[in-house]
Amino acid sequence: MKIRKAVVTAAGWGTRFLPATKAQPKEMLPLVDKPMIQYVIEEAVASGIKHIIIVTAIGKRAIEDHFDRSFELEHIVEKKGDGELLRKLQNISELADICYIRQKEQLGLGHAILVTKELIGDEPFAVFLPDDIIQARVPAMKQMIEVYNRYQNSVIAVEPVAKKDTKAYGIIKPKQVEDRVYQVMSLVEKPEPKDAPSNLAIVGRYLLTPEIFGMLEKTAPGKGGEIQLTDGLRLLLEKQPIYAYQFEGIRYDTGMPLGFLKASVEFALNRPDIGAKFRDYLRQLKLND
Ligand code: G1P
Repeated sequence: MKIRKAVVTAAGWGTRFLPATKAQPKEMLPLVDKPMIQYVIEEAVASGIKHIIIVTAIGKRAIEDHFDRSFELEHIVEKKGDGELLRKLQNISELADICYIRQKEQLGLGHAILVTKELIGDEPFAVFLPDDIIQARVPAMKQMIEVYNRYQNSVIAVEPVAKKDTKAYGIIKPKQVEDRVYQVMSLVEKPEPKDAPSNLAIVGRYLLTPEIFGMLEKTAPGKGGEIQLTDGLRLLLEKQPIYAYQFEGIRYDTGMPLGFLKASVEFALNRPDIGAKFRDYLRQLKLND
C-alpha cells in the first residue's frame, strides 16, 4: 500500500531549549533562516507524501501561521518588488495539505501518535520527529519507503551511536538481513549502556502499519511515566515483524543546543549566498583563539 500520510509530532514542551521555548514552539527555531519543522515537511514532500498531520499542543499556534498564507506580508513583499522572496513565501503554504490535531495532555510520543488514529485510518503512515534533521542525497524517508515496499512491514530508522549514549534513545536488538537493513528482534527505550542490546539507536523517522494504534491503546506508561512509541512497537513485534533501516545521510539532533548549533553552522557553510563569508569569519575566529 502506498504511503500517503505523515504524522509530524510537535507537541513537546521543548524543555531542553528553555528559555528560548518559553513562549514559542521549539519546532519554529530556525536553522539559518528556515524553521526546523519546514525541513521535515519538505523531506516528507520530497519523499512523495502530500498529506501531513501535525500534532500540536498549547502554545504552538505559530506553526499553523507559518504554513498558512499571509496576504498582508505577501502584499508588502510584492510592493518592494522582491519576486523571489514572494515565491518563497507562497511556496510554504502550498507545500502540502496539512491538518492539525492537538494533543491535549502531553502523555508521551506514543500518545501523540495515538491521537492521529482517526485521521490516519487503516493505512500505513510515516512519522517524523522534527528534532531529528537529516541531510541526505536521497531523502531519508524516501529511502525508508523503498525498504517498506520490499518488506511490507513497519520500518524504523536507526543509526549507530556511542555506547555511552544509549540512554538517550530507543535501542534495537538487530538481526541483519541485508546491507543496512535489520529485522528488529526486540527494542527498548533509553537503556543504560550496560543493558543496551546493541548500539543501533532509533532516529525520528518511522513507517508504521496501522496496527500500531491498537498496540498504543494497550501501552502502559513507561520511561519517564510517558506512553512510549518504543513500548508500543514492542507489542506490535509480537504480532508482525518490524524492520530497521540504517539510512544514508547525516542526522543532526537539533532538539538540544549543541546539535542545533552544529546543524546551524554546517547549513550556513553550505549556503551559496552566505557560506563563503561565514567560512572566512570562522577561520578568522580560529586565528584569534
Ligand atoms: C524519541 C523516542 C526514542 C528515539 C528518539 C529519536 O525520544 O522515544 O526512542 O530514539 O526520539 O530522536 P526523545 O528524543 O523524544 O526523548
